[in-house]
Amino acid sequence: MRCLDDTPIFGRVLIITTVLGGLLHGALLQSAMAGEREELLAKAQKSLEAQAAKVKDDPARPVYHVLPPAYWMNDPNGPIWHNGYYHLFYQHNPYGDGWGNMHWGHVRSKDLVHWEHQPIALWPSKSQGEEHVFSGSATVNGKGELMLFYTSIGNRAPEQWAAMPEDKDLVRWKKHAKNPLLTEKLHGETKVHEWRDPFIFRHGNGVYLVFGGNLNASQGGQAVVLVYRAENEELTEWKYLGVLFQHPDKEVKNIECPLFFPLAGKWVLIVSPHGPVQYFVGDLDGETMTFKPSQRGIMDYGSYYAPNVMFDPEGRCLLWGWIRDFPGGKGWNGCLTLPRELTLGDDGHVRQTPANELAQLRGQRKSFDDVQISGTRELRRGVRNAFELGVEIKLDEAREAGVRLGHTDERDGIVVALDGKELRVGDSRVPLAVKHNQPVSLRVFVDHSVLEVYVDDQICVSKVIPTGASGEGIEFFPTGGKAEFKSIQIWPMGTIWGKR
Ligand code: FRU
Repeated sequence: MRCLDDTPIFGRVLIITTVLGGLLHGALLQSAMAGEREELLAKAQKSLEAQAAKVKDDPARPVYHVLPPAYWMNDPNGPIWHNGYYHLFYQHNPYGDGWGNMHWGHVRSKDLVHWEHQPIALWPSKSQGEEHVFSGSATVNGKGELMLFYTSIGNRAPEQWAAMPEDKDLVRWKKHAKNPLLTEKLHGETKVHEWRDPFIFRHGNGVYLVFGGNLNASQGGQAVVLVYRAENEELTEWKYLGVLFQHPDKEVKNIECPLFFPLAGKWVLIVSPHGPVQYFVGDLDGETMTFKPSQRGIMDYGSYYAPNVMFDPEGRCLLWGWIRDFPGGKGWNGCLTLPRELTLGDDGHVRQTPANELAQLRGQRKSFDDVQISGTRELRRGVRNAFELGVEIKLDEAREAGVRLGHTDERDGIVVALDGKELRVGDSRVPLAVKHNQPVSLRVFVDHSVLEVYVDDQICVSKVIPTGASGEGIEFFPTGGKAEFKSIQIWPMGTIWGKR
Protein backbone atom coordinates (compact mmCIF):
# COMPACT_ATOMS: atom_id res chain seq x y z
CA MET A 1 0.00 0.00 0.00
CA ARG A 2 1.32 3.45 -0.90
CA CYS A 3 1.59 5.88 1.98
CA LEU A 4 0.71 9.58 1.84
CA ASP A 5 4.42 10.60 2.02
CA ASP A 6 5.05 9.14 -1.45
CA THR A 7 2.18 11.13 -2.99
CA PRO A 8 2.89 14.42 -4.85
CA ILE A 9 1.60 17.54 -3.07
CA PHE A 10 -1.45 17.99 -5.34
CA GLY A 11 -2.41 14.36 -4.84
CA ARG A 12 -2.08 14.75 -1.06
CA VAL A 13 -4.38 17.76 -1.03
CA LEU A 14 -6.84 15.83 -3.13
CA ILE A 15 -6.76 12.79 -0.79
CA ILE A 16 -7.08 14.95 2.33
CA THR A 17 -9.97 16.97 0.93
CA THR A 18 -11.70 13.77 -0.23
CA VAL A 19 -11.37 12.19 3.23
CA LEU A 20 -12.44 15.36 5.00
CA GLY A 21 -15.24 15.82 2.49
CA GLY A 22 -16.36 12.24 3.18
CA LEU A 23 -16.35 12.81 6.93
CA LEU A 24 -18.18 16.10 6.58
CA HIS A 25 -20.69 14.51 4.27
CA GLY A 26 -21.21 11.67 6.78
CA ALA A 27 -21.63 14.15 9.63
CA LEU A 28 -24.03 16.31 7.61
CA LEU A 29 -26.03 13.24 6.63
CA GLN A 30 -26.24 12.12 10.26
CA SER A 31 -27.41 15.53 11.39
CA ALA A 32 -29.85 15.85 8.47
CA MET A 33 -31.25 12.43 9.39
CA ALA A 34 -31.52 13.38 13.07
CA GLY A 35 -33.35 16.56 12.00
CA GLU A 36 -35.66 14.56 9.80
CA ARG A 37 -36.35 12.15 12.66
CA GLU A 38 -37.34 15.00 15.00
CA GLU A 39 -39.59 16.54 12.39
CA LEU A 40 -41.33 13.33 11.31
CA LEU A 41 -41.79 11.96 14.82
CA ALA A 42 -43.12 15.26 16.16
CA LYS A 43 -45.63 15.41 13.31
CA ALA A 44 -46.75 11.79 13.84
CA GLN A 45 -47.02 12.22 17.59
CA LYS A 46 -49.09 15.39 17.22
CA SER A 47 -51.48 13.70 14.81
CA LEU A 48 -51.86 10.77 17.22
CA GLU A 49 -52.45 12.86 20.32
CA ALA A 50 -55.12 14.99 18.64
CA GLN A 51 -57.01 11.84 17.70
CA ALA A 52 -56.45 10.12 21.07
CA ALA A 53 -58.52 12.79 22.78
CA LYS A 54 -61.41 12.02 20.41
CA VAL A 55 -61.48 8.24 20.75
CA LYS A 56 -60.70 7.73 24.41
CA ASP A 57 -64.30 7.46 25.55
CA ASP A 58 -65.54 5.23 22.75
CA PRO A 59 -67.43 2.45 24.62
CA ALA A 60 -66.22 -0.09 22.05
CA ARG A 61 -62.56 0.42 22.96
CA PRO A 62 -61.04 -2.43 24.97
CA VAL A 63 -59.53 -1.53 28.36
CA TYR A 64 -57.40 -4.58 29.14
CA HIS A 65 -55.99 -5.34 25.71
CA VAL A 66 -52.97 -3.39 24.41
CA LEU A 67 -53.79 -0.93 21.63
CA PRO A 68 -52.42 2.46 20.43
CA PRO A 69 -53.78 5.76 21.84
CA ALA A 70 -55.65 6.12 18.52
CA TYR A 71 -55.66 5.18 14.82
CA TRP A 72 -54.46 1.97 13.22
CA MET A 73 -52.33 -0.90 14.45
CA ASN A 74 -51.48 -4.33 13.06
CA ASP A 75 -48.71 -6.83 13.88
CA PRO A 76 -46.96 -6.88 17.28
CA ASN A 77 -43.21 -6.36 16.67
CA GLY A 78 -39.98 -6.99 18.58
CA PRO A 79 -41.23 -7.98 22.06
CA ILE A 80 -38.27 -7.99 24.44
CA TRP A 81 -37.52 -7.75 28.16
CA HIS A 82 -34.97 -5.02 28.84
CA ASN A 83 -33.79 -3.20 31.91
CA GLY A 84 -36.75 -4.11 34.11
CA TYR A 85 -39.49 -3.69 31.49
CA TYR A 86 -41.33 -5.70 28.91
CA HIS A 87 -41.18 -3.68 25.71
CA LEU A 88 -43.62 -4.30 22.95
CA PHE A 89 -43.74 -2.57 19.56
CA TYR A 90 -46.41 -2.75 16.88
CA GLN A 91 -47.15 -1.78 13.30
CA HIS A 92 -48.81 1.58 13.52
CA ASN A 93 -50.32 4.25 11.27
CA PRO A 94 -50.36 7.49 13.29
CA TYR A 95 -52.30 9.30 10.52
CA GLY A 96 -55.40 7.19 10.03
CA ASP A 97 -57.56 4.27 11.12
CA GLY A 98 -56.66 2.19 8.07
CA TRP A 99 -53.38 0.52 7.10
CA GLY A 100 -50.65 2.89 5.80
CA ASN A 101 -47.58 4.99 6.75
CA MET A 102 -46.12 2.14 8.77
CA HIS A 103 -44.30 3.26 11.93
CA TRP A 104 -43.48 1.25 15.07
CA GLY A 105 -45.64 2.18 18.07
CA HIS A 106 -44.28 1.32 21.51
CA VAL A 107 -45.62 0.31 24.94
CA ARG A 108 -43.86 -0.97 28.02
CA SER A 109 -44.79 -2.78 31.23
CA LYS A 110 -43.04 -3.79 34.43
CA ASP A 111 -45.42 -6.60 35.28
CA LEU A 112 -46.91 -7.78 31.96
CA VAL A 113 -50.27 -6.49 33.18
CA HIS A 114 -50.13 -2.68 33.41
CA TRP A 115 -48.81 -0.85 30.34
CA GLU A 116 -47.64 2.65 29.50
CA HIS A 117 -47.71 4.23 26.06
CA GLN A 118 -44.28 5.34 24.89
CA PRO A 119 -43.48 7.79 22.08
CA ILE A 120 -43.53 6.29 18.57
CA ALA A 121 -40.24 4.39 18.19
CA LEU A 122 -39.59 3.99 14.45
CA TRP A 123 -40.56 6.15 11.50
CA PRO A 124 -39.97 5.85 7.74
CA SER A 125 -36.74 7.74 6.85
CA LYS A 126 -38.12 9.53 3.81
CA SER A 127 -34.78 11.10 2.82
CA GLN A 128 -33.36 7.60 2.49
CA GLY A 129 -36.18 6.42 0.30
CA GLU A 130 -38.05 4.62 3.05
CA GLU A 131 -41.87 4.66 2.91
CA HIS A 132 -42.78 2.05 5.52
CA VAL A 133 -41.11 0.43 8.50
CA PHE A 134 -42.52 -3.11 8.29
CA SER A 135 -42.55 -5.90 10.88
CA GLY A 136 -39.54 -7.33 12.67
CA SER A 137 -37.95 -8.46 15.89
CA ALA A 138 -35.56 -7.40 18.66
CA THR A 139 -32.38 -8.90 20.04
CA VAL A 140 -29.13 -8.08 21.82
CA ASN A 141 -25.96 -8.48 19.71
CA GLY A 142 -22.57 -9.87 20.79
CA LYS A 143 -21.48 -6.39 21.92
CA GLY A 144 -24.42 -6.18 24.31
CA GLU A 145 -26.28 -3.67 22.12
CA LEU A 146 -30.02 -3.94 21.68
CA MET A 147 -31.11 -3.96 18.02
CA LEU A 148 -34.41 -3.88 16.18
CA PHE A 149 -34.45 -5.66 12.83
CA TYR A 150 -37.19 -4.82 10.35
CA THR A 151 -38.07 -4.75 6.67
CA SER A 152 -37.62 -1.38 5.03
CA ILE A 153 -40.10 -0.73 2.25
CA GLY A 154 -39.65 2.03 -0.31
CA ASN A 155 -39.85 2.60 -4.01
CA ARG A 156 -37.33 -0.24 -4.51
CA ALA A 157 -36.90 -3.90 -3.57
CA PRO A 158 -37.41 -4.67 0.15
CA GLU A 159 -34.30 -4.30 2.31
CA GLN A 160 -33.59 -5.43 5.85
CA TRP A 161 -32.61 -2.65 8.21
CA ALA A 162 -31.76 -2.27 11.88
CA ALA A 163 -32.28 0.48 14.45
CA MET A 164 -30.39 1.10 17.69
CA PRO A 165 -31.62 2.77 20.89
CA GLU A 166 -30.07 6.02 22.12
CA ASP A 167 -31.15 5.60 25.75
CA LYS A 168 -31.77 2.81 28.24
CA ASP A 169 -35.54 3.33 28.19
CA LEU A 170 -35.60 2.63 24.45
CA VAL A 171 -37.42 5.90 23.78
CA ARG A 172 -35.20 7.39 21.06
CA TRP A 173 -33.90 5.33 18.17
CA LYS A 174 -31.49 5.86 15.32
CA LYS A 175 -31.25 3.90 12.13
CA HIS A 176 -28.13 1.73 11.92
CA ALA A 177 -25.23 3.41 10.09
CA LYS A 178 -24.66 0.22 8.06
CA ASN A 179 -28.18 -0.05 6.63
CA PRO A 180 -29.22 -1.87 4.54
CA LEU A 181 -27.89 -4.90 6.43
CA LEU A 182 -29.36 -7.47 4.07
CA THR A 183 -30.40 -6.98 0.46
CA GLU A 184 -31.76 -9.25 -2.26
CA LYS A 185 -28.20 -9.61 -3.58
CA LEU A 186 -27.59 -12.25 -0.88
CA HIS A 187 -29.83 -14.64 -2.82
CA GLY A 188 -27.73 -14.63 -6.02
CA GLU A 189 -29.80 -16.07 -8.87
CA THR A 190 -32.76 -16.97 -6.62
CA LYS A 191 -35.63 -14.47 -6.69
CA VAL A 192 -37.44 -14.28 -3.37
CA HIS A 193 -40.85 -12.61 -3.59
CA GLU A 194 -42.48 -10.79 -0.64
CA TRP A 195 -39.19 -11.04 1.28
CA ARG A 196 -39.90 -9.65 4.75
CA ASP A 197 -40.44 -9.87 8.51
CA PRO A 198 -37.09 -10.80 10.12
CA PHE A 199 -37.18 -12.96 13.24
CA ILE A 200 -34.02 -13.81 15.23
CA PHE A 201 -33.21 -17.16 16.81
CA ARG A 202 -30.12 -18.78 18.27
CA HIS A 203 -28.81 -22.31 17.80
CA GLY A 204 -25.49 -23.64 19.09
CA ASN A 205 -23.09 -20.71 18.87
CA GLY A 206 -24.88 -19.18 15.91
CA VAL A 207 -27.31 -16.29 15.55
CA TYR A 208 -29.84 -16.74 12.76
CA LEU A 209 -32.57 -14.79 11.03
CA VAL A 210 -35.63 -16.19 9.32
CA PHE A 211 -37.74 -14.35 6.75
CA GLY A 212 -40.99 -15.19 5.03
CA GLY A 213 -41.73 -15.06 1.32
CA ASN A 214 -42.24 -17.27 -1.71
CA LEU A 215 -40.23 -18.43 -4.72
CA ASN A 216 -42.78 -18.30 -7.53
CA ALA A 217 -44.43 -14.85 -7.55
CA SER A 218 -47.19 -16.03 -5.18
CA GLN A 219 -48.48 -18.72 -7.56
CA GLY A 220 -48.98 -21.22 -4.72
CA GLY A 221 -46.94 -24.24 -3.61
CA GLN A 222 -43.68 -22.41 -2.98
CA ALA A 223 -44.33 -20.40 0.15
CA VAL A 224 -41.11 -20.55 2.16
CA VAL A 225 -39.22 -19.56 5.28
CA LEU A 226 -35.61 -18.60 4.48
CA VAL A 227 -32.71 -18.75 6.90
CA TYR A 228 -29.52 -16.63 7.32
CA ARG A 229 -26.56 -16.79 9.69
CA ALA A 230 -24.79 -13.82 11.29
CA GLU A 231 -21.15 -13.51 10.24
CA ASN A 232 -20.08 -11.03 12.95
CA GLU A 233 -21.02 -10.27 16.54
CA GLU A 234 -22.42 -6.82 15.68
CA LEU A 235 -25.01 -8.73 13.59
CA THR A 236 -24.44 -6.49 10.59
CA GLU A 237 -23.13 -9.12 8.16
CA TRP A 238 -25.27 -12.06 7.12
CA LYS A 239 -25.02 -15.12 4.95
CA TYR A 240 -27.95 -16.71 3.14
CA LEU A 241 -28.17 -20.41 4.00
CA GLY A 242 -31.26 -21.47 2.06
CA VAL A 243 -34.83 -22.61 2.65
CA LEU A 244 -35.57 -23.68 6.23
CA PHE A 245 -39.14 -24.75 5.44
CA GLN A 246 -41.41 -24.99 2.43
CA HIS A 247 -45.12 -24.98 3.17
CA PRO A 248 -46.64 -28.40 2.36
CA ASP A 249 -50.02 -27.03 1.19
CA LYS A 250 -50.16 -26.23 -2.53
CA GLU A 251 -52.77 -23.52 -2.05
CA VAL A 252 -50.58 -21.48 0.31
CA LYS A 253 -49.12 -18.66 -1.78
CA ASN A 254 -46.92 -16.81 0.67
CA ILE A 255 -45.69 -16.79 4.26
CA GLU A 256 -45.56 -13.66 6.43
CA CYS A 257 -44.12 -13.16 9.90
CA PRO A 258 -42.40 -16.52 10.53
CA LEU A 259 -41.46 -17.23 14.17
CA PHE A 260 -38.99 -20.04 14.84
CA PHE A 261 -37.94 -21.01 18.37
CA PRO A 262 -37.11 -23.95 20.64
CA LEU A 263 -39.75 -25.15 23.09
CA ALA A 264 -39.51 -28.14 25.46
CA GLY A 265 -36.86 -29.92 23.38
CA LYS A 266 -38.64 -29.35 20.06
CA TRP A 267 -38.70 -26.49 17.53
CA VAL A 268 -41.83 -24.51 16.81
CA LEU A 269 -42.49 -22.64 13.58
CA ILE A 270 -45.43 -20.22 13.44
CA VAL A 271 -46.45 -18.79 10.06
CA SER A 272 -49.02 -16.25 8.89
CA PRO A 273 -50.06 -17.40 5.42
CA HIS A 274 -52.69 -14.70 4.65
CA GLY A 275 -55.21 -16.93 6.44
CA PRO A 276 -55.48 -18.62 9.86
CA VAL A 277 -52.11 -18.56 11.63
CA GLN A 278 -50.55 -22.03 11.72
CA TYR A 279 -48.00 -23.71 13.95
CA PHE A 280 -45.69 -26.61 13.14
CA VAL A 281 -43.79 -28.56 15.82
CA GLY A 282 -40.77 -30.66 14.88
CA ASP A 283 -37.01 -30.90 14.75
CA LEU A 284 -34.26 -28.72 13.36
CA ASP A 285 -31.50 -30.36 11.36
CA GLY A 286 -28.61 -28.11 12.42
CA GLU A 287 -26.34 -29.42 9.63
CA THR A 288 -28.57 -28.55 6.72
CA MET A 289 -30.53 -25.88 8.63
CA THR A 290 -33.83 -27.40 7.60
CA PHE A 291 -36.92 -27.90 9.75
CA LYS A 292 -38.80 -31.23 9.81
CA PRO A 293 -42.28 -30.75 11.25
CA SER A 294 -44.19 -33.63 12.82
CA GLN A 295 -47.32 -31.88 14.17
CA ARG A 296 -49.35 -28.93 13.01
CA GLY A 297 -52.31 -26.90 14.15
CA ILE A 298 -54.05 -23.52 14.19
CA MET A 299 -53.02 -20.82 16.65
CA ASP A 300 -56.39 -19.06 16.75
CA TYR A 301 -59.60 -19.61 14.78
CA GLY A 302 -60.86 -16.03 15.02
CA SER A 303 -59.85 -12.62 13.64
CA TYR A 304 -56.22 -13.08 14.46
CA TYR A 305 -52.95 -12.64 12.58
CA ALA A 306 -49.16 -12.11 12.60
CA PRO A 307 -48.25 -12.96 16.22
CA ASN A 308 -44.83 -12.31 17.75
CA VAL A 309 -43.02 -14.09 20.55
CA MET A 310 -40.35 -13.60 23.23
CA PHE A 311 -38.72 -15.45 26.10
CA ASP A 312 -38.84 -13.57 29.41
CA PRO A 313 -36.10 -13.67 32.10
CA GLU A 314 -37.70 -16.79 33.64
CA GLY A 315 -37.55 -18.52 30.28
CA ARG A 316 -41.31 -18.34 29.71
CA CYS A 317 -42.38 -18.23 26.10
CA LEU A 318 -44.84 -15.33 25.66
CA LEU A 319 -46.84 -14.58 22.55
CA TRP A 320 -49.11 -11.77 21.37
CA GLY A 321 -51.24 -11.73 18.22
CA TRP A 322 -53.01 -8.95 16.37
CA ILE A 323 -56.83 -8.94 16.71
CA ARG A 324 -58.24 -7.54 13.49
CA ASP A 325 -61.51 -6.98 11.59
CA PHE A 326 -62.77 -4.09 13.70
CA PRO A 327 -65.33 -1.88 11.96
CA GLY A 328 -63.69 1.01 10.08
CA GLY A 329 -64.24 4.73 10.50
CA LYS A 330 -64.01 4.91 14.28
CA GLY A 331 -60.67 6.71 14.53
CA TRP A 332 -58.99 3.62 15.99
CA ASN A 333 -58.60 0.06 14.76
CA GLY A 334 -56.87 -3.06 16.05
CA CYS A 335 -55.56 -4.39 19.34
CA LEU A 336 -53.37 -7.20 20.63
CA THR A 337 -54.46 -10.42 22.26
CA LEU A 338 -53.71 -10.98 25.93
CA PRO A 339 -50.16 -12.21 26.50
CA ARG A 340 -50.30 -15.98 26.13
CA GLU A 341 -47.83 -18.40 27.64
CA LEU A 342 -46.87 -21.11 25.16
CA THR A 343 -46.05 -24.67 26.22
CA LEU A 344 -46.08 -28.07 24.52
CA GLY A 345 -48.65 -30.67 25.51
CA ASP A 346 -47.89 -34.39 25.90
CA ASP A 347 -49.39 -34.88 22.46
CA GLY A 348 -46.72 -32.58 20.97
CA HIS A 349 -49.23 -29.83 20.22
CA VAL A 350 -48.98 -26.19 21.30
CA ARG A 351 -50.89 -25.08 24.41
CA GLN A 352 -51.75 -21.42 25.04
CA THR A 353 -52.61 -20.03 28.48
CA PRO A 354 -53.28 -16.38 29.29
CA ALA A 355 -50.33 -15.20 31.44
CA ASN A 356 -51.00 -15.85 35.15
CA GLU A 357 -50.26 -12.24 36.05
CA LEU A 358 -53.54 -11.19 34.41
CA ALA A 359 -55.30 -12.34 37.59
CA GLN A 360 -54.16 -8.99 39.05
CA LEU A 361 -56.81 -7.29 36.94
CA ARG A 362 -59.63 -9.26 38.53
CA GLY A 363 -62.11 -7.54 40.81
CA GLN A 364 -64.60 -9.11 43.21
CA ARG A 365 -65.33 -12.68 42.15
CA LYS A 366 -68.79 -14.09 41.71
CA SER A 367 -68.78 -17.85 41.88
CA PHE A 368 -71.36 -20.59 41.80
CA ASP A 369 -71.06 -24.18 42.89
CA ASP A 370 -71.71 -27.04 40.59
CA VAL A 371 -75.03 -26.55 38.90
CA GLN A 372 -77.05 -28.83 36.72
CA ILE A 373 -79.07 -26.76 34.36
CA SER A 374 -81.94 -28.07 32.35
CA GLY A 375 -83.55 -24.77 31.40
CA THR A 376 -81.45 -21.64 31.39
CA ARG A 377 -79.86 -19.72 34.17
CA GLU A 378 -79.23 -16.06 33.74
CA LEU A 379 -77.06 -13.58 35.62
CA ARG A 380 -78.00 -10.01 35.05
CA ARG A 381 -76.29 -7.89 37.62
CA GLY A 382 -72.82 -6.74 38.37
CA VAL A 383 -70.68 -7.68 35.41
CA ARG A 384 -70.58 -5.95 32.11
CA ASN A 385 -68.21 -4.73 29.42
CA ALA A 386 -64.94 -6.01 30.84
CA PHE A 387 -64.89 -9.38 32.56
CA GLU A 388 -63.42 -12.85 32.67
CA LEU A 389 -65.58 -15.92 32.93
CA GLY A 390 -64.45 -19.44 33.72
CA VAL A 391 -66.66 -22.51 33.56
CA GLU A 392 -66.38 -26.27 33.15
CA ILE A 393 -69.08 -27.72 30.98
CA LYS A 394 -70.12 -31.38 30.76
CA LEU A 395 -72.62 -31.93 27.98
CA ASP A 396 -74.28 -34.84 29.77
CA GLU A 397 -77.75 -35.23 28.19
CA ALA A 398 -77.66 -31.97 26.26
CA ARG A 399 -77.35 -31.66 22.50
CA GLU A 400 -75.51 -28.39 22.94
CA ALA A 401 -74.47 -26.38 26.01
CA GLY A 402 -72.82 -23.05 26.47
CA VAL A 403 -73.07 -19.46 27.46
CA ARG A 404 -74.80 -16.53 25.82
CA LEU A 405 -73.15 -13.16 26.43
CA GLY A 406 -74.73 -9.73 26.38
CA HIS A 407 -78.15 -11.10 25.63
CA THR A 408 -81.23 -8.97 26.37
CA ASP A 409 -84.82 -8.97 25.18
CA GLU A 410 -83.68 -6.86 22.22
CA ARG A 411 -80.35 -8.48 21.51
CA ASP A 412 -79.37 -12.08 20.79
CA GLY A 413 -75.91 -11.68 22.24
CA ILE A 414 -72.93 -13.86 21.34
CA VAL A 415 -72.97 -17.59 21.93
CA VAL A 416 -70.01 -19.71 22.99
CA ALA A 417 -71.12 -23.35 22.98
CA LEU A 418 -70.16 -26.95 22.27
CA ASP A 419 -72.13 -29.87 20.90
CA GLY A 420 -69.61 -32.72 21.02
CA LYS A 421 -68.36 -32.10 17.50
CA GLU A 422 -67.86 -28.37 17.21
CA LEU A 423 -67.19 -25.26 19.22
CA ARG A 424 -69.37 -22.32 18.25
CA VAL A 425 -68.16 -18.76 18.97
CA GLY A 426 -70.51 -16.25 17.38
CA ASP A 427 -70.39 -17.04 13.66
CA SER A 428 -67.17 -19.13 13.92
CA ARG A 429 -67.25 -22.93 13.98
CA VAL A 430 -64.22 -24.90 15.15
CA PRO A 431 -63.87 -28.70 15.13
CA LEU A 432 -63.94 -29.92 18.76
CA ALA A 433 -64.64 -33.59 19.44
CA VAL A 434 -65.70 -34.16 23.09
CA LYS A 435 -67.59 -36.96 24.80
CA HIS A 436 -70.78 -36.14 26.66
CA ASN A 437 -69.26 -37.21 30.00
CA GLN A 438 -66.03 -35.28 29.46
CA PRO A 439 -65.71 -31.89 31.18
CA VAL A 440 -64.41 -29.06 29.01
CA SER A 441 -62.83 -25.98 30.53
CA LEU A 442 -63.83 -22.70 29.00
CA ARG A 443 -62.18 -19.35 29.69
CA VAL A 444 -63.90 -16.38 28.17
CA PHE A 445 -62.48 -12.85 28.20
CA VAL A 446 -64.84 -10.04 27.25
CA ASP A 447 -63.36 -6.57 26.81
CA HIS A 448 -65.94 -4.21 25.30
CA SER A 449 -65.81 -5.09 21.59
CA VAL A 450 -63.19 -7.84 22.00
CA LEU A 451 -63.78 -11.48 22.89
CA GLU A 452 -61.11 -14.13 23.53
CA VAL A 453 -62.12 -17.74 24.16
CA TYR A 454 -59.76 -20.49 25.38
CA VAL A 455 -60.91 -24.11 25.44
CA ASP A 456 -58.76 -26.46 27.54
CA ASP A 457 -55.84 -24.16 26.59
CA GLN A 458 -55.87 -25.88 23.21
CA ILE A 459 -58.30 -23.94 21.10
CA CYS A 460 -58.28 -20.16 20.93
CA VAL A 461 -60.78 -17.92 19.22
CA SER A 462 -60.36 -14.12 19.23
CA LYS A 463 -63.19 -12.03 17.85
CA VAL A 464 -64.51 -8.53 17.45
CA ILE A 465 -68.06 -8.40 18.83
CA PRO A 466 -70.75 -5.73 18.71
CA THR A 467 -70.40 -3.46 21.73
CA GLY A 468 -73.82 -4.39 23.11
CA ALA A 469 -72.77 -8.02 23.30
CA SER A 470 -70.46 -7.25 26.18
CA GLY A 471 -73.27 -5.64 28.18
CA GLU A 472 -75.15 -7.15 31.09
CA GLY A 473 -76.76 -10.56 30.77
CA ILE A 474 -74.84 -13.82 30.93
CA GLU A 475 -76.96 -16.87 30.29
CA PHE A 476 -75.90 -20.49 30.76
CA PHE A 477 -77.94 -22.82 28.62
CA PRO A 478 -78.24 -26.41 27.54
CA THR A 479 -80.45 -27.50 24.65
CA GLY A 480 -82.16 -30.89 24.34
CA GLY A 481 -81.55 -32.06 27.93
CA LYS A 482 -79.63 -31.18 31.06
CA ALA A 483 -75.95 -30.29 31.18
CA GLU A 484 -73.52 -29.76 34.03
CA PHE A 485 -71.87 -26.40 34.60
CA LYS A 486 -69.08 -26.71 37.14
CA SER A 487 -67.17 -24.01 39.00
CA ILE A 488 -68.67 -20.99 37.33
CA GLN A 489 -66.53 -17.97 38.17
CA ILE A 490 -66.87 -14.42 36.95
CA TRP A 491 -64.61 -11.47 37.63
CA PRO A 492 -64.96 -7.87 36.49
CA MET A 493 -61.64 -6.86 34.93
CA GLY A 494 -59.76 -3.59 35.48
CA THR A 495 -57.79 -1.51 33.01
CA ILE A 496 -54.16 -2.13 32.03
CA TRP A 497 -53.38 1.56 31.54
CA GLY A 498 -51.54 3.19 34.39
CA LYS A 499 -48.15 2.85 35.96
CA ARG A 500 -47.15 0.06 38.34
C1 FRU B 1 -48.55 -8.89 8.20
C2 FRU B 1 -47.80 -7.85 7.38
C3 FRU B 1 -46.31 -8.14 7.37
C4 FRU B 1 -45.74 -6.79 7.10
C5 FRU B 1 -46.68 -5.87 7.86
C6 FRU B 1 -46.90 -4.54 7.24
O1 FRU B 1 -49.75 -8.38 8.69
O2 FRU B 1 -48.32 -7.80 6.07
O3 FRU B 1 -45.92 -9.10 6.42
O4 FRU B 1 -44.42 -6.65 7.55
O5 FRU B 1 -47.90 -6.56 7.95
O6 FRU B 1 -47.67 -3.71 8.04
